[in-house]
Amino acid sequence: MNDLVVAITGASGSAYAVRLLEVLVAAGRNVHLVVSPAGQQVIGHELGLKIDPANFSIEQLLPDFASSEAGTGRVQIHDYRDFSAGIASGSFQTGGMAICPCSMGTLAAVSQGLSQNLIHRAADVHLKERRKLIVVPRETPLGSIQLSNMKTLADAGAVILPAMPGFYNQPQSIDDLVNFVVARICDQLGVEQDLTKRWGNQSLEP
Ligand SMILES: Cc1cc2nc3c(=O)[nH]c(=O)nc-3n(C[C@H](O)[C@H](O)[C@H](O)COP(=O)(O)O)c2cc1C
Repeated sequence: MNDLVVAITGASGSAYAVRLLEVLVAAGRNVHLVVSPAGQQVIGHELGLKIDPANFSIEQLLPDFASSEAGTGRVQIHDYRDFSAGIASGSFQTGGMAICPCSMGTLAAVSQGLSQNLIHRAADVHLKERRKLIVVPRETPLGSIQLSNMKTLADAGAVILPAMPGFYNQPQSIDDLVNFVVARICDQLGVEQDLTKRWGNQSLEP
């Protein structure tokens, strides 16, 4: 199983990112994590987690990470300016990348191939190598520039997976809503999960 790349940018919805990391690690997947400075700011605001950018570690996001018995996956954190990281190169094999949540700023940069930080560059690499790139935008309402950037990325092969939880499973909590979106991301990454009940009967009894 190849490593996965997760990028957290400064859109609202840090809870999606934390849950996604938990699920990937519990599924035994190794993750390369990059968090933009705005992403760190939003995590601090939304989750009340004190992120120390100078000494950022996975335990700051997942306090139980070290003691987690379920998780066999490992998380390697890369500085968002470190273009020498493996994930900046197409020769580094991965099983896909998710930008979750994805700000409109990062969406614009990736759609235009700017590669101004490691998140943009890794996303660019996934597109050029024809690997799975899942973009989880969070903004409303959407303007024409943002919609146009999403269309550009979708045409380039990215999966645009907005943080839009469905309500047909009768969610009872914020966790249910978060799990809905994370389940869709995992499906795209090919990571098995049972976070939500699937619609329809997929295992028909004989
Ligand atoms: C609390 C907070 C919430 C934000 N929510 C969003 C959002 O939902 N969508 C968005 O595109 N930008 C949002 N922003 C603005 C981005 O963080 C800002 O555009 C930033 O430049 C994005 O940088 P990045 O793409 O490098 O992370 C938010 C900022 C803050 C402080």
